[in-house]
Amino acid sequence: MILIEWNEELELGIPEIDKQHKKLVDMLNEFYTEMEEGHKKEAAEYFLKELEEYLTYHLDYEEKFMEEIGFPDLENHKKTHEMFKALYLEVKERYLNGDEKALRELIAFAFSWLFSHIMKTDKKYARYLQERS
Ligand SMILES: [Fe+2]
Repeated sequence: MILIEWNEELELGIPEIDKQHKKLVDMLNEFYTEMEEGHKKEAAEYFLKELEEYLTYHLDYEEKFMEEIGFPDLENHKKTHEMFKALYLEVKERYLNGDEKALRELIAFAFSWLFSHIMKTDKKYARYLQERS
């Protein structure tokens, strides 16, 4: 696995949401670096507290945003957030029950999910907003 580099393709053109996505990428990279440097415990604590908190904040923010702009596909988008949260909780549970490998799985999953989610799903409401204005 490698670090995610922020690039233009990840940009939605919505400043506040782009800022949040960037922060998530930074946080995931930081977590990954800690892991690579062998600071497993600190990395795990960071991931399960700060990152989880920020991720939840971000997903809620996005859902409210889509509601405000009247995005018609809101329900489907919410479903993908729910699916992510459910999978996240499942892997987290495994980690907390002593499965050490689960943490790596969790981070790999969060990385790829965030990336493809922004590229495919988030871009839909960005496009909608653009077309509407
Ligand atoms: Fe989203």
